[in-house]
Amino acid sequence: MTTPTPQSGLSHEKVETNNFLMIVLILLVLLVGGMVEIVPLFFQKSTTEPIKGIKPYTALQLAGRDIYTREGCYNCHSQMIRPFRAETLRYGHYSVAGESVYDHPFQWGSKRTGPDLARVGGKYSDEWHRIHLTNPRDLVPESNMPAYPWLEKTLVDADSLPSHMTALRKVGVPYTDEEIAKATADVKGKTELEATIAFLQSLGLALK
Ligand code: HEC
Repeated sequence: MTTPTPQSGLSHEKVETNNFLMIVLILLVLLVGGMVEIVPLFFQKSTTEPIKGIKPYTALQLAGRDIYTREGCYNCHSQMIRPFRAETLRYGHYSVAGESVYDHPFQWGSKRTGPDLARVGGKYSDEWHRIHLTNPRDLVPESNMPAYPWLEKTLVDADSLPSHMTALRKVGVPYTDEEIAKATADVKGKTELEATIAFLQSLGLALK
């Protein structure tokens, strides 16, 4: 009896005994597999278009969002509810890509020292947030969240908003000329605390 031997081409033995060839072929498989999974996401409506009810942040909310990133709130708070029962029972509807299309950069995160904030909008009153951000322990005695007392004492940098919104418009956020023109006046005299609260109260309202 003769065992068939491959006459030419890539025999399994060659692949499995040649490290270099193995590495190249593995990379090729990963590359093709990765492209097949990732590339369509850039073109699918469900990942690139805002869901119903999603609007660009107002000037004040946008200023609050900048404070959120500046203060590193994302180091302890994610903004992405995963599609698991335990998550949706606690936080509400799982997050969908169409909610984040106007977020540059997105604040999904993964670190949860504190709760997820993707749908915290409307959960508490503005007054609750004011006390909580100024000193969390006044409301939640066991909280290890830092206090941010300076937010109440610092005014929003109103002059920086028009250029910020113009830049966001370049990457697809549909701000109108009018919105950009009145941005500075909209937030003038507002504190960073008011802006942060406006941002928090806007989170996740479109899909509850
Ligand atoms: C060191 C980690 C840490 C950082 C940084 C942090 N937080 Fe928290 N946060 C927590 C923890 C823990 C809780 C839960 C206890 C509490 O409510 O204080 C919490 C609770 C909250 C809640 C209430 C959420 C809910 O559903 O009850 C909000 C809103 C919040 N944080 C906003 C912020 C904002 C805004 C910032 C940045 C200015 C921030 N946090 C920074 C740890 C943190």
